[in-house]
Amino acid sequence: MTSKKLKASITGVHGYVPDYILTNRELETLVDTTDEWIVTRTGIKERRILKGDMKGTSILGVECVKGLLNKTDTDPKEIDLIICATVTPDMLFPSTSNLIADRVGASNSYGFDISAACSGFIYALATGSQFIEAGTHKKVIVVGADKMSSIIDYEERKNCVLFGDGGGAVLLEPSEDENGIQDYLLKSDGSGGDMLCLKAGGSLKPASIETIKNKEHYIYQEGSSVFKFAVTNMADISEEIMNNNNLSSDDVAYLVPHQANKRIIDATAKRMGIGPEKVLLNIEKYGNTTAGTIPLCLWDFENKFKKGDNLILAAFGGGFTWGSLYLKWSYNN
Ligand code: COA
Repeated sequence: MTSKKLKASITGVHGYVPDYILTNRELETLVDTTDEWIVTRTGIKERRILKGDMKGTSILGVECVKGLLNKTDTDPKEIDLIICATVTPDMLFPSTSNLIADRVGASNSYGFDISAACSGFIYALATGSQFIEAGTHKKVIVVGADKMSSIIDYEERKNCVLFGDGGGAVLLEPSEDENGIQDYLLKSDGSGGDMLCLKAGGSLKPASIETIKNKEHYIYQEGSSVFKFAVTNMADISEEIMNNNNLSSDDVAYLVPHQANKRIIDATAKRMGIGPEKVLLNIEKYGNTTAGTIPLCLWDFENKFKKGDNLILAAFGGGFTWGSLYLKWSYNN
């Protein structure tokens, strides 16, 4: 008798965005831009900002995880592991996952952060699923959260229109049936690292008066080059995972794309041969929350999903990193 491979299922999802809404209209008062330019080039209408001093990404993560534990009726002490995908950790160390675990009372959990920019949540979900599939962990929480406003220059129009703050978290447990995470593809290419990065604050260029003067603690991006790589690679990897799993466009219930730019998402959907009714979009409300976009999308559209639905998650981001993940949704609401 052959034993079936254990699969990891998402058994709950919860998201969190801060209350403050930064609209395109408000951005028009800060930099030389227009609502029309932002909407046509990106699809973004507003984004959320975490206001106030001494508030880091862990606040977003804690809200997501508390909501998730509550919703799934899970005792925090039952959690074995918390993985947090983020490029805006509260501090370089300790890891944000450790801070979240402490504040939600997950005292039996260990944790670590994953840095893969906009692909962070897919990287972390694939990583978390390994611990479940190995049979060594029963409850793993995967968080994707970023406080992008902490690394944005609101005096420079190129990037401030794109990003926002927010996050989401999922609970992973062993699947009781054939549903759950079926397959994933993860890729990276460090030769693109310089095109989308934070130049200072790491060991290469520690913070100094000079780096602050040069605004090197703000995100640096060569927008149109990144755009070209993102369009090609996100579309390629989504098509590849469909081919590897013999999925036709009819088989796919929903594409859950990283929300960086609606034009990148449209190109990906076109390559997959799926219509707009199957593409989940919330970019207009939140902008690009980096590791937060995909779990926020799962949270926003959770009520649409039915047990057994085929979902394709896809992302591209700094690194460069990119990835796709194929899962069968595990529950009805
Ligand atoms: N408002 C008005 N004009 C703006 C602007 C803004 N917020 N930002 C840039 N512009 C201007 C540029 O200065 C440029 O002007 P010029 O032609 O006089 O030089 C013009 O708009 C076109 O700029 P360009 O960068 O070529 O535009 P684009 O069509 O590539 O769109 C992005 C810019 C940033 C929206 C697009 O490149 C993009 O989405 N890139 C990927 C970003 C991303 O999502 N990264 C995260 C990881 S996936």
